[in-house]
Amino acid sequence: MTSQFDGMAALHERSIDELPFRRHIEMPSVLAAAGGVEGRRVLDLGCGSGLYARFFARNGAAGVLGVDRSPGLIAHARHREEVEPLGVRYLVHDEATTDTLTGAFDLAVSVYALSYAATPAALARLCAAARATLAPGGRFVAATLNPDFATVPHYYRPYGFDLTVADPHLCDGDPVGLHARADGESFQVTAYYWSREAHERALTEAGFTEVAWQSPRTAADGSASLFARYLAAPHVLAVSARVPGDSSPR
Ligand SMILES: C[S@@+](CC[C@H](N)C(=O)[O-])C[C@H]1O[C@@H](n2cnc3c(N)ncnc32)[C@H](O)[C@@H]1O
Repeated sequence: MTSQFDGMAALHERSIDELPFRRHIEMPSVLAAAGGVEGRRVLDLGCGSGLYARFFARNGAAGVLGVDRSPGLIAHARHREEVEPLGVRYLVHDEATTDTLTGAFDLAVSVYALSYAATPAALARLCAAARATLAPGGRFVAATLNPDFATVPHYYRPYGFDLTVADPHLCDGDPVGLHARADGESFQVTAYYWSREAHERALTEAGFTEVAWQSPRTAADGSASLFARYLAAPHVLAVSARVPGDSSPR
């Protein structure tokens, strides 16, 4: 199984510098929605080149596994682990549905993978896969395309990317073009629009409770004023959900 992201490892890595909202808003927001990662067993579902998997390891996670269906991105992530060992393991896997992952994690995080589910069934499978990997009381945090992102043309261009839609009255499953430049190269991928209700349905049907949308956080580095326009209509939001039951004492 390959993905539209194969061959994009270098671009993924550069995106953290060339798309500054990632470092200044997205990462602090994901970490806050997760309630921190220290001492927790973390799965990064759709880990890409391993940006978040490494971030979680550096922030004190008890163990991190990154899974992605793109062999090219996992090869890159493994290479980074060889160069800078952080104890992160990586697996090529579509949706992490293997028995070996069942119930093994306290926290599953998925940054942008839900937005690339092209059908309701694919969205449901990703949520079900995240659910299956979590222990009782475990938490799932997904950074996903904000259902209320700005459809005004070039709204996000000051932040390094464009989102394009055929019709601003979006329906579930409509394609959304993401075009950005990083490292002098331009890249274009197709994401899919999912409403709040579609996300909530997929999460609830997967067996999650306490589904909650989180407002974006900014890094405590004085950069918030640079992102005022972005924050008025962020293109990504974190949604979190919990597996019923008590977390086992660790
Ligand atoms: C936009 S990339 C984000 C990568 C990484 N999370 C990051 O933030 O840099 C989305 C990733 O999700 C992966 N992905 C999408 N659907 C998946 C699935 N069903 N199973 C495993 N990986 C998936 C893609 O291969 C891709 O690497």
